[in-house]
Amino acid sequence: MTHSIAIQISPFGDPEQAQKDAESLSQIYQLPLVHTLETPPSITMGWYQTAKETQAKLALFQPDSGAVFIDFVTGKKAHRRQYGGGKNQPLVRAMGKIENRLPHVIDATAGMGGDSFVLASLGCHVLMLERSIAVSALLKDALQRGEAFLNSEDSDSELHDILARLNVIHADSAHFLRHQAHTLNHSVEVVYMDPMYPEKKKKAATKKEMKVLQHLVGPDQDSQHLLQAALKTAGYRVVVKRPKNAPIIQLDNPKLIPTTQISSPNTRYDVYVIKALKSAGLLSP
Ligand SMILES: C[S@@+](CC[C@H](N)C(=O)[O-])C[C@H]1O[C@@H](n2cnc3c(N)ncnc32)[C@H](O)[C@@H]1O
Repeated sequence: MTHSIAIQISPFGDPEQAQKDAESLSQIYQLPLVHTLETPPSITMGWYQTAKETQAKLALFQPDSGAVFIDFVTGKKAHRRQYGGGKNQPLVRAMGKIENRLPHVIDATAGMGGDSFVLASLGCHVLMLERSIAVSALLKDALQRGEAFLNSEDSDSELHDILARLNVIHADSAHFLRHQAHTLNHSVEVVYMDPMYPEKKKKAATKKEMKVLQHLVGPDQDSQHLLQAALKTAGYRVVVKRPKNAPIIQLDNPKLIPTTQISSPNTRYDVYVIKALKSAGLLSP
């Protein structure tokens, strides 16, 4: 079940300013303000700031977990940039290389931007597409805060390059790929998808970011439709992230299956190589 969302007035700082900021968010995102509702929604969006911070972050709140926001500069993502992964990790290997360079990637299911950030830190240009207005707002806010950080003395050139490789658009990806991809200033090379998979059982250990996504958007029921659009548009590869033992996404043509699969301990990447599928007559040239 997905939950309703509304804007909440921030308890931080000047109450009058907080009211104005909340009204402005409510207008921008066309979401109701929390105090105007009789039944409060289970998820709210608003500004969050700790005493130590000078800048507020756009965040999602739900009763059973703390603020959920995206931070490309500090925290886990920064840690991963410094210590994690490397160019050999399965996610990056799945993208392949075009004439010795990393391809341009459309992340068609951007979510909290985790995978996009890893790809951008290793050199891919990534366009993040996200259809939830609230989640895409969090991504835009994280990129804007990142840009502001670049002007600070703590900034570094590596972070500058990573953020320059990331962009976000609020859109349904199947629609974008079919009708708007031609507006990009480069061809679509790789389309990456990590659709929300139905939860098997309630896992206490689910991260709060995933929990809020599960509550807000629920399982993605139309991955097949998105995969069809991706296979029609991508010039090089389509990569689908699945839980390790999950079935592949079934398409109308049962012969249209991944060209190869790359596995890691909990995850599998189903790689559809466009040239191979075209040569086999499974995709129209
Ligand atoms: C499992 S999450 C992705 C997590 C992401 N890979 C990360 O690292 O944070 C799936 C996200 O894809 C979005 N999504 C699913 N189908 C979409 C579509 N057709 N167009 C745009 N966004 C989509 C959902 O709203 C959800 O936020």
